[in-house]
Amino acid sequence: MSKERTPGSFEEEKRAAGESAADLVEDGMVVGLGTGSTVAWTIRRLGRRVGEGLSIQGVATSYQSEAIAISAGIPLTTLSQHPVLDLAIDGADQIDADLNAIKGGGAAHAREKVVAYSARRFVLVSDRSKHAHCLDVAVPIEVLPFSASLARRWLADLGGAPTLRQGRMKDGPVITDNGNFVFDTDFGKITDPEGLGMRISSIPGVVEHGLFTNVDELHVADSGGVQILRRG
Ligand code: A5P
Repeated sequence: MSKERTPGSFEEEKRAAGESAADLVEDGMVVGLGTGSTVAWTIRRLGRRVGEGLSIQGVATSYQSEAIAISAGIPLTTLSQHPVLDLAIDGADQIDADLNAIKGGGAAHAREKVVAYSARRFVLVSDRSKHAHCLDVAVPIEVLPFSASLARRWLADLGGAPTLRQGRMKDGPVITDNGNFVFDTDFGKITDPEGLGMRISSIPGVVEHGLFTNVDELHVADSGGVQILRRG
């Protein structure tokens, strides 16, 4: 990514935003559980509510969110059992003024997108630092390893500068939860996220890109509290 993730920064704001969205969850709901440090606060708050008697089921978007949900005591289910979710809640890496978002800083965006599109309502949670006028951070693009060379050339043809994401504490490329590679691809300022997303998806071997244009609501926090923004 062109912008480093900063775990530990804005922790109070992340907590406020994450817990605010947890209050949207009602008894009986099946909820998509996103990945990352902000929505982790949502999952832990939901776990406490389950301990107080709330009856819900969650669908995890990664090994990370599965582990947090299990330790929080949230019963888990699958999209095979519940193809339509009541609500999905997730974090983001950058969100523009129209609530389009870039996700995938944790390489979980493929499952996150499937879960988001399976939900009747898709809600993002973030601290204020993620909110920007226009999207301009690198777009994570998950590709089949077999198609990496082709994808690199075609992403460059689309005007992108792809960088194969490298592991930390692991030599060589990051391998996603689905067994694939990720190209963090810098397109500069993105004025047409939907159009760019469609062009990226047309590349053979691309599994999923991190442009999300289906956000219904954003809970964004700064030191003054949580603001709720809805798609206009
Ligand atoms: C996971 O791949 C991402 O889409 C995360 O949802 C996103 O990076 C937000 O993570 P943080 O809340 O940790 O910033």
